[in-house]
This record gives sequence, structure tokens and C-alpha cells, in this order.
Amino acid sequence: MIIAMAGKGGVGKSTIASQIIRALGGDGIVLAVDADPNSNLGEKLGLEPLGTIGGIRNQIVDDPDIVPAGISKHEYVVGRVREIIAEGETTDLLTMGRSQGEGCYCFINGLLRECFSNLIPNYAHVVIDNEAGMEHMSRKTLPQADVLLLVSDPTVTGIKTAARLRDLADEVGMETGKTILVVNNAPGGNMSPLEKAASDNGLPAPFFLPRDQYIVDSSMESEVLDVPGDTPFGRAMSGLMAEIRK
Ligand SMILES: Nc1ncnc2c1ncn2[C@@H]1O[C@H](COP(=O)(O)OP(=O)(O)O)[C@@H](O)[C@H]1O
Ligand SMILES: [Mg+2]
Repeated sequence: MIIAMAGKGGVGKSTIASQIIRALGGDGIVLAVDADPNSNLGEKLGLEPLGTIGGIRNQIVDDPDIVPAGISKHEYVVGRVREIIAEGETTDLLTMGRSQGEGCYCFINGLLRECFSNLIPNYAHVVIDNEAGMEHMSRKTLPQADVLLLVSDPTVTGIKTAARLRDLADEVGMETGKTILVVNNAPGGNMSPLEKAASDNGLPAPFFLPRDQYIVDSSMESEVLDVPGDTPFGRAMSGLMAEIRK
């Protein structure tokens, strides 16, 4: 299963992605793709990036002779990508890094695309933590997702933004199997206005994840995040996992 996270900055994409990745770890090795340069998915998982895709791309563009004689550019890229994957017990972390500047990188993007499609069958699941613009998804460097997980804050504005991101995903031709809307940091109480906002914007009924003091406290102590199942967030997460697997 390939799950792509989307949502504006600060809504909780990496928090939720990290817990989905932990939950899916029981199925086999999960490939965690950090596709948000302002993210910290690795830290939340306790994994350190060993390099970035952006770094590899820049090196090849700056110095095409870096590819040793006798091996193809494709083989070189495949080898380098293998080298920058940080390996954990049930998770491998691949970090996309900074996006490219001006100029034509189409050739290298093509190589990366091919590289990803070869890599993905090795994993039980892939979870992609995107930045708000979903650049890698729109460039198709990253593959199509089975699940598009839109994350919103508990506001009407947030729901509208999620709807715009869904439209963006459509425009760039992402063919997602299903779309799940998550309202994170939900305060509890009457959520029907947000349910109405979702339906008014053509989104599925939202799935609510509560604001949880455990996450607040844990984040003050450590960057690693492993929310226990018996917290309000942990309990809601098991519901979300059931929805994802449905
Ligand atoms: N359900 C929650 N309860 C409490 N704090 C949360 C919750 N979700 C996210 N946070 C906090 O909000 C901040 C932003 O979350 P993050 O996952 O980094 O957002 P994003 O990846 O969308 O930019 C972090 O400090 C995180 O600890
Ligand atoms: Mg993030």
C-alpha cells in the first residue's frame, strides 16, 4: 500500500505519518519517504538521513563526470539512492531534501522515477510525507498513491485548504485509490460544523484525531515520537488505521 500525506504546514502531517509508519511496521519493512524539506519525519522515527535525493541530483548536475566510467547513470543513481536510505528495525527512511532550482532536470527525474518503481516492490508499504505543494507527486518523481490522506486543522479554512489540495492532486493527475480527510488537533465537542464544511467542499466525512497532551509533553522531551495506544490520540489512530486498511 502507498499512502501519501498532504496538508498545509503545521497541521500534523509528520506526526500522523510517523504513527502510521509505526503501526504498519507489523506487516514488514515500511519505506518512509520524507518529501518535505521542512520536515522532521526521520527524527520522529528515530532515524537519521544519510543524504538526500536532492543532494544526489545536484552532484550529478554540477559534475556529470562523477558517474564512474563503465557504469550507466542509471546504475549510479540506483547505487547512490541505496546508500542514503537509513535503515531501522521496521522502517527504511528515504529523504528527498531540497527541491531543484532552475534548469532541466527531466533526465534525472526520469531516472529517479524508475529508481523508485524498482525500489517500491521491496517494501510492505510506502508512506510519503509530502510538503504542502506536493511537488514530487506532481513531478511524478514519486509514484501514485493508493491512499491520499488529507490533513486539516479543526477550522473551516483548513477544510477548504484540504479541498484545494485534493483539487491540486486531481489537476496534476494523481490517481489516488481513496481519499481520507483527517481533522487533527480536534478539540472535542460538537464537530458537526466541520462535517458540514467537508461535505460542502465535496470531501469525505472527516476522521477526527484529538489534540493530545501526550504529544505536547513528549515533544518537549524528545524528537522521537511513539504515541502509546492507550492515549486519546493512540485510540483514535487505531480507528484511522482500520479506515486506511479498509
Ligand atoms: N494531535 C496532536 N496533539 C498535540 N500536538 C500535536 C498533534 N498533532 C501535531 N501536534 C504538534 O503540532 C506540531 C506540528 O506537527 P507536524 O506533524 O510537524 O506538522 P506538519 O508535518 O503538518 O508540518 C508539532 O509540534 C506536533 O508535536
Ligand atoms: Mg512535516
